[in-house]
Amino acid sequence: MIQPFRFAHISDIHLPTYGADCKPVTAFLNKRFFSALSWFGKRRHIHQKAVTDHLVRDCLASAPDHILVTGDLINLSLAGEYERAFAWLQSLGTADMISAIPGNHDLLLDTPAAQKGLALYTPYMGGDDNNSQQFPYVKRRKDVVFIGLSTAIETPLGWCSGRLGEAQREQLRTILDEAQRDGLCRIVALHHPPAGKNKPRGGLEDQPEFAAIIADCGAELILHGHTHQSSMHALPGPNGPVPVMGVASLSVRPGKGYPAGCWHEYTLERVENHWQILLNIHRYTGPDTPPARVAQAILNSA
Ligand SMILES: [Fe+2]
Repeated sequence: MIQPFRFAHISDIHLPTYGADCKPVTAFLNKRFFSALSWFGKRRHIHQKAVTDHLVRDCLASAPDHILVTGDLINLSLAGEYERAFAWLQSLGTADMISAIPGNHDLLLDTPAAQKGLALYTPYMGGDDNNSQQFPYVKRRKDVVFIGLSTAIETPLGWCSGRLGEAQREQLRTILDEAQRDGLCRIVALHHPPAGKNKPRGGLEDQPEFAAIIADCGAELILHGHTHQSSMHALPGPNGPVPVMGVASLSVRPGKGYPAGCWHEYTLERVENHWQILLNIHRYTGPDTPPARVAQAILNSA
């Protein structure tokens, strides 16, 4: 009998930014200034490294086969943040057991310095073929394939939307078709939510085009972050609805107006001619107590 495949989905870690990261001053003569005000004034009290560490310990203790990280590892796209985020990825595991993609905070400004920082995440944000950072990438593990997309783009002040763009969308079609021919369980990962209410300033700009690809090609599971809420939607696929699941931020301490930090645990099992997907949600309850398993759901791929 083939063993079920078990993986963790985490997102929106927002690792801490420190005052020492904030140099030179000229790096803040743009929208980063307002993002820094938000981080130091409010968000640093919401996102706590202690919560992240507690949940990561719980996740690693469960020995998942793979970990998916759907973006927003950092806050302001500063050099020191990228270096710490890379070290944090290394602490999660080796690149062959991690599939990561960027979020809007990982590319707050699309500058050469930010691209250099983002490149540090390679090979955690790279596929099986090579060590370069290209999207979409494909990581195949047993009969499961992780398809990593990037929706990270620089946006105007007050916006945090994302976009795949035509080139990624076309490649995604090919990858989905080929993976289906190979009988693989196709897990599509992107930071911005591709289903549900699409906020113009904060959503996925090419949501309709993405939905059209899924309608034609299908997928077994689509996973995202960005909203800091655990959520469940679906997109129509050629053989039935495709589950679209969002995970809450990993690092939120309770009582701050957002759901407390969560990680999602998925168990994939081939049952006859489809994949049965079991979801368990693990939520932070406090520094001295284990995370609670707050929900369980079975999602069937069509
Ligand atoms: Fe986020």
